[in-house]
Amino acid sequence: MAGNKTLTMIKPDAVKKNAIGGILKMINDAGFTIHAMKYTQLTKAQAELFYEVHKERPFYGELTEFMSSGPIVAAILEKDNAVEDFRKLIGATNPAEAAEGTIRKIYASSIGENAVHGSDSDENAKIEGDFHFSACERF
Ligand code: CMP
Repeated sequence: MAGNKTLTMIKPDAVKKNAIGGILKMINDAGFTIHAMKYTQLTKAQAELFYEVHKERPFYGELTEFMSSGPIVAAILEKDNAVEDFRKLIGATNPAEAAEGTIRKIYASSIGENAVHGSDSDENAKIEGDFHFSACERF
């Protein structure tokens, strides 16, 4: 059975573009509610840990440098079928391939600076949620 939570990060590029409000509105309008949320900045070491699954990929250094370059908004979102529905809402990783009306189509500028992260499985949603939030930060 599909889970009802996913983890998102509004990435440094979208924060710099002043797009936090617009992205959160799209998330709420799509039926997601906020289970946990924080405005924070990852250290390089934290970004490396979060994206450890990509450590052999050629873009790992660039990705972790970018993700620690400025503040982000991290949030656990709640909705039935959260992981799949959120990935539909954000669109393809590469904004050039993202469908019209998706968050990445509207706000992302490149495959590296792609505005938002969304968990790719229920298992990773739990791991990523636990990475950012303790029990007392969830409502
Ligand atoms: P995200 O959903 O956060 O998960 C992994 C991230 O790696 C992805 O979004 C992209 O931002 C990044 N990524 C994937 N492929 C590339 C690439 N070819 N070059 C740079 N960054 C990439």
